[in-house]
Amino acid sequence: MKVGYLQFRPLFGRVERNLNKVIKTLEHVKADLMVLPELAFTGYYFKDRQETAALAEDPASSKTVESLVGLCKERDFYLVTGFSEKHRDKVFNSSLLLGPQGIVHTYRKLHLFNEEKNWFDPGDTLLEVQEVRGAKIGMMICFDWIFPEVTRTLSLLGAQIICHPSNLVLNYCQQTMLSRCIENNIFAITANRFGIDKRPHGELRFTGKSQIVAPKGVLLQRAHSQRDSLYITEINPEEADRKNITPLNQLMDDRRPEFYAPLSQTK
Ligand code: ACM
Repeated sequence: MKVGYLQFRPLFGRVERNLNKVIKTLEHVKADLMVLPELAFTGYYFKDRQETAALAEDPASSKTVESLVGLCKERDFYLVTGFSEKHRDKVFNSSLLLGPQGIVHTYRKLHLFNEEKNWFDPGDTLLEVQEVRGAKIGMMICFDWIFPEVTRTLSLLGAQIICHPSNLVLNYCQQTMLSRCIENNIFAITANRFGIDKRPHGELRFTGKSQIVAPKGVLLQRAHSQRDSLYITEINPEEADRKNITPLNQLMDDRRPEFYAPLSQTK
């Protein structure tokens, strides 16, 4: 299975320009599954909720989604992309799985980072696994990485590949994802953005270094921090099914959930 990511620098508020950049970069790509950054078309550093809502789109009637699905048809691949999603009176920081047949699945970010709490509604979708060309994929978004429960839940549901659109501003995630891939024996594709969102109310710099990690925490490739990067590689998703770490230890079966009660308690 050929999987990859596109790291680029979305320009704030310039949805059409960002879309054209993605389409132009991917128009000759041969792959099965490509991952794009979080909020790939709107940019990230919103002023307030009104601005977020003004730039968000309903995927069911979105020109952006329509063009991306057109690209999936033309290239015969699947795309996972961050997307500012309008749904009735709510706005979600979402990840869409798109394919030649249209929208396959929408995941809404569960763990909002910092000021995102002022701009978005917290996600209300369950963590789920989808099948793409025989591989089982799960989606999470950026700051979800700091909650190991997310990758664990997706792994327990059978995910072989975690698709992880990101707009990272802290420096810990890339290293931590190696551990997430050791403890669950999974692949993870973190597609990050780079550059700076310079806005009248301040600026935020994003860390790039998109990466693909294999089971056992093997770093297959990591991008430069501040450059466009298109990377595609061949993987065997079934490697993620071998959960034995020693002859007598199986990562999922050896868990002792009866001793983890606080994990399932709500606040
Ligand atoms: C983040 O969740 N965008 C840091």
